[in-house]
Amino acid sequence: MDQPFVAVAATDAIPPGKFIKVVIEDRPYLVANVDGHFYAVEDRCSHEDYPLSYGCLDGDRIKCSLHGSRFSLATGAPLDEPADEPIRTYRLAVDEGRVWLDPSSPAEIG
Ligand code: FES
Repeated sequence: MDQPFVAVAATDAIPPGKFIKVVIEDRPYLVANVDGHFYAVEDRCSHEDYPLSYGCLDGDRIKCSLHGSRFSLATGAPLDEPADEPIRTYRLAVDEGRVWLDPSSPAEIG
């Protein structure tokens, strides 16, 4: 896998229903496995900058543990108040038994 992708974990290190936090150049990301599909989002709630990695998965959503807003892992869209701004999502690839993240290119927010 070529730049700008960065290997962040072995695929089997993130089982379905789990996520990990990774840091690339001082920026934290959350990489989740939902039924074998991997997602990457910034590890920062858009409400009060709280780490989303302190929260939990709810299907294909990540729930912030501070005030309970959920965000779509696919689009970054907020699904509950109080958050009303999306979070960034990032391109991922699975290759050579590893998960690769492109930190240079937040996906378009849907
Ligand atoms: S900091 Fe996440 S919902 Fe308030």
